[in-house]
Amino acid sequence: MADGFARPLPASLAFTPDVEAQTAAMWDKVKHHVTPLEWRLHAPLIAEINRLKREKNAVILAHNYMTPEIFHGVGDYVGDSLGLAREAAKSDAAVIIQAGVHFMAETSKVLAPDKRVLIPDLLAGCSLASSITGADVRLIKQRYPGVPVVTYVNTTADVKAETDICCTSANAVQVVEWAAREWGVDKVILIPDEYLARNVARQTNVKIIAWAGRCEVHERFTAGDIAEMRAAYPGAEILAHPECPTEILEAADFAGSTAAMNDYVALRKPKQVVLITECSMASNVQAESPGTQFIGPCNLCPHMKRISLRNIHDALVHDRYEVTVDPAIADRARLAVQRMIDLPPPAVPARYDLVKARHHVDVELI
Ligand code: 13P
Ligand code: SF4
Repeated sequence: MADGFARPLPASLAFTPDVEAQTAAMWDKVKHHVTPLEWRLHAPLIAEINRLKREKNAVILAHNYMTPEIFHGVGDYVGDSLGLAREAAKSDAAVIIQAGVHFMAETSKVLAPDKRVLIPDLLAGCSLASSITGADVRLIKQRYPGVPVVTYVNTTADVKAETDICCTSANAVQVVEWAAREWGVDKVILIPDEYLARNVARQTNVKIIAWAGRCEVHERFTAGDIAEMRAAYPGAEILAHPECPTEILEAADFAGSTAAMNDYVALRKPKQVVLITECSMASNVQAESPGTQFIGPCNLCPHMKRISLRNIHDALVHDRYEVTVDPAIADRARLAVQRMIDLPPPAVPARYDLVKARHHVDVELI
């Protein structure tokens, strides 16, 4: 199930001149992050995966945290959680390969129940998704009757099924305000990421009830990391993901989802930038922004890093590992995800401006 690098590649997957020509444009995008020696292993797999996709009518949905050879080599749709969910709903392919983590594959299955959804490694989990269960949400609803439940997409289908509407970091403020208006209440349950909830609470006058889930990647950043970066690189612009603690967002120049960070770099073209998020994000954005220098720190997500070209290839060849969701749960979860998708996209890319935050209320932690 794990990567399988111990097994030799089939002899047919050789770095031939034809493979080199087919993958030349991709090499150009990844050459600052992948060595020529590594490319000799990656390129034949990329060519074969792209051939298999056509043969099997499959698409690969690749999250921004995938390694550059996956992101630029085989991803048909790349982006943040919201973007990938939208693509899953629209796709005409018979098979979806989720180059991401298990909750993303479940979301794809929920939105595309007639398609076969495969994840290359079943152990690609998420600390946020495993922090809460459907039974927990049922208890929360008993404790706060009449309060709408907004759930981050980084959750299992079981949790989404107990939810009124889903959100991602790209639209959480908009969704919370929508739920408060629709239900005619002044408070909303926003679960399971405590930091996302605290960061949203600073952007709205809706009261937030939160759960103490954490992203194990983003919770590790500290205000000290930012202070060190400012001292070492005074001109660098610092961008942070809203799963980070609030002190990070207060110290950053910009905060937004992975797609919002990507847009920020593409539009503003800073000379130097620090991305406070998962490591592969910087490598992937850099390929599209050669004029910008990207500076650490970053943390690896061990779950995202379980996905490799090798296990994507094996998923296509062996038609594995299928992700299924109980149809009764999927039907309820779909309502919550679809409600989110149906909201109009924000007029400007959602950003978390905690420097100028309008509200300084604390959240109620369950
Ligand atoms: P977004 O891509 O939605 O910003 O999510 C980040 C993340 O941690 C996904 O697991
Ligand atoms: Fe989960 Fe964090 Fe990894 Fe995203 S980066 S999959 S939220 S642990």
